[in-house]
Amino acid sequence: MADLRVKAAGVEFPNPIIVGSNTPTMDWIQTKKGIDGGAGGAIVKSLFSEKGKMGRKFPRPRFKLYDYKNYPGYPEKLPHAFTLNSLEECSAFGYEEYMADINKTKEEVGDKGIIMASLSGVTIEEWIEMVKLVNETKADWVELNVSCPFAADMGVKMGSGAVEMTAEVVKSCKDLLKKPFSVKVSPQTVDQSAVAKACEEAGAQSINLSARFSGFDLDIDSARPIGPGAQGGWGGPYFIGYGLKNCAIAARKLDVPIIGGLGVWEWQDIIKYMMCGATLVQSGIGILLQGHDVSKRWAEKINNWLDAKGYKSINEIIGIALPNILKTSEVARAQEGVFAKIDANKCTKCGVCKRSCMYDAISVTKAGAIINNEKCDACGLCIEVCPVDAASMVRPQMRAN
Ligand SMILES: Cc1cc2nc3c(=O)[nH]c(=O)nc-3n(C[C@H](O)[C@H](O)[C@H](O)COP(=O)(O)O)c2cc1C
Ligand code: SF4
Ligand code: SF4
Repeated sequence: MADLRVKAAGVEFPNPIIVGSNTPTMDWIQTKKGIDGGAGGAIVKSLFSEKGKMGRKFPRPRFKLYDYKNYPGYPEKLPHAFTLNSLEECSAFGYEEYMADINKTKEEVGDKGIIMASLSGVTIEEWIEMVKLVNETKADWVELNVSCPFAADMGVKMGSGAVEMTAEVVKSCKDLLKKPFSVKVSPQTVDQSAVAKACEEAGAQSINLSARFSGFDLDIDSARPIGPGAQGGWGGPYFIGYGLKNCAIAARKLDVPIIGGLGVWEWQDIIKYMMCGATLVQSGIGILLQGHDVSKRWAEKINNWLDAKGYKSINEIIGIALPNILKTSEVARAQEGVFAKIDANKCTKCGVCKRSCMYDAISVTKAGAIINNEKCDACGLCIEVCPVDAASMVRPQMRAN
């Protein structure tokens, strides 16, 4: 069995899986379920300060899933790319209840997992007040959450409206904090890694890159946004490409450990984030929809995979993909003699490939689809759309056979 333990900011986590700050960490009962379910740590749902306390009351209902339960085979089979829109800003607790809940969580969980409190202030005075309170709790870790994607809309200076104040928050809190801490930064900016670097230079001990974007869908009959009527958090597993890219860019720039995340849905996603430089990986929606026990299954599968690959410790995979991630300018281009080929034995003559071929290289005949090599640009789209995998790519070295 490979060793799944990781260390960040001097704290040892039993494994890198973190229950992200969201509904599954709304109170000690759920957070304990998260650790019992196999996660190495949990970030408790964020405490908003008094000036942002409107966020402690939630719209009802507040969840809308797109492309989820209409997936073939649901609920045994779950989709891999869907969207969750939600409007649930922070913990329902005020200061006193939050600190008591953090203490209760740690008492219940003990050494089984790392309990991470999460704070979101409006003014620097509020940040300082909250830090002083959380210092006196049993929390193992504190996250300064400057990332909420829609709080700016309520007059709370966070998320997209707060890039310039993020480092200021870190500077004001770092010397007061008596606990290891991370800073959760918004991706809703031109360059998330620049904000992360500014936080590191201001004294952050770890950076959480997993925050979501905001958005809404529109009902065309009423011309109103679907759901509560405003923008909400907008994300899902389809977003993972964006999260991995941001993680890899930040990993090249930062020295402090990264908490990766955004769109984690399967155990492989945790490995992907670690290969892109994350030390810890959090899941929000993945645990919200698959239940707390999914962490146990993920840890087991990661362990099996590490064993099969011959890794002794999960630390060996951190950042190993970074040298393989090319700049766009470094990608190989215009290979000669590459074109698509159709297997006539598999082809059902459905014509799906033909309608997607913008090079007019495909004709569907009685014998099946055929490719005009003179026209084929080897773009690869027919391979992606063919429902029976009849299309494939012929490369120069394969043509000799
Ligand atoms: C319903 C819901 C509530 C959330 N509440 C918080 C919160 O209170 N604090 C916070 O830092 N992030 C919050 N988030 C963001 C998640 O922690 C996470 O960063 C985000 O959902 C992206 O990761 P995922 O794709 O794994 O869900 C929330 C997300 C969801 C879906
Ligand atoms: S690879 Fe692209 S250009 Fe060639 S046949 Fe397929 S879709 Fe057309
Ligand atoms: S999509 Fe596949 S099965 Fe359909 S015509 Fe093209 S090659 Fe044949």
